[in-house]
Amino acid sequence: MLVLGIETSCDETGLAIYDSDRGLLGHILHSQVNLHEAYGGVVPELASRDHIRLILPLLESLFNRTGVKKEAIDAIAYTQGPGLSGALLVGSSLAEALAFSLQIPTIPIHHLEGHLLAPLLEKNAPSFPFIALLVSGGHTQIIHVKKIGQYEIIGDTLDDAAGEAFDKTAQLLGLGYPGGQALSLLAEKGKPFFELPRPLIHKKDLNFSFSGLKTAVLYLIRAQENLTDEIKADIAFAFQEAITEVLTKKCLHALDQYQLKQLVVSGGVGANKQLRQKLTTELYKKNYEVFFPRLEFCTDNGAMIAFAGAMRLDTSLKYDLAFSVKPRWQLA
Ligand code: KG4
Ligand code: ZN
Repeated sequence: MLVLGIETSCDETGLAIYDSDRGLLGHILHSQVNLHEAYGGVVPELASRDHIRLILPLLESLFNRTGVKKEAIDAIAYTQGPGLSGALLVGSSLAEALAFSLQIPTIPIHHLEGHLLAPLLEKNAPSFPFIALLVSGGHTQIIHVKKIGQYEIIGDTLDDAAGEAFDKTAQLLGLGYPGGQALSLLAEKGKPFFELPRPLIHKKDLNFSFSGLKTAVLYLIRAQENLTDEIKADIAFAFQEAITEVLTKKCLHALDQYQLKQLVVSGGVGANKQLRQKLTTELYKKNYEVFFPRLEFCTDNGAMIAFAGAMRLDTSLKYDLAFSVKPRWQLA
């Protein structure tokens, strides 16, 4: 079965074709980062317009690149939510219109389900059940994944998401938006000089809180007489150490509590090198395994939506075919 996947929930236009026999046939992605950079965040109206401008040419390129004819597609999966309503409407209306013209079904997908299944696109994939750490710009959740469609959220952030904390700290250090990757590159040049708090690290529950960490960075910056590039790098280092240590500890707690040995990491912050290293080292010590998507599938993409669609086809879960978007959709 061939599934076309469409992702337009925020500032990336992603399209992909997944074959349930042969795997991923191809994907294409356009990022709007340059468009929103000047505003320090995503401007919803600009995002929708850019999706409209590019989605058809991108779809054409994907068909050309993969050699797949649109008539060969068996189903269309698209991100129905959560996300920006205007942006979601671009992907969903293309999906529904194309599906109607081809007389094939659509499969509305939860964006976070796409993220948490992304590591299953890799050759070395985990098997159900497992624990997932979902760390993106808007979410920081620990999820007990029992099987497709059965997700129990067992840990969440009480305030800022991990990606948000990276982005806000990056902004305080003058690194632009979104700053997660820039901050992690700067941290590579830093030394272990400053110590920052590790919020909730000693609590046995699986929740997070990162706004205090960001405030601690703000006070640390204010306390510097001369904020040199060297000091900035040391602060970035301290921030990254603190946040990755908290994320790692809570994942270990979750695996212990649920007596599971497999951890899946996904979402944009899953691209963070230090987090990947820490989790790999700490889980190895306990004979646990950690699975990451390839770097390009950590952030938003169409491949994870096409894949989630193919998994949903396999389990023949029924959806109503109403044409709507769900900007605030709970995963559980
Ligand atoms: O999953 P994603 O593409 O979008 C959402 O659904 O939110 O995640 C984007 C987030 C941003 O906050 C970005 O700064 C962060 O992921 N990010 C990183 C890295 N690459 C992206 N954070 C830390 N280290 C990175 N290397
Ligand atoms: Zn995302």
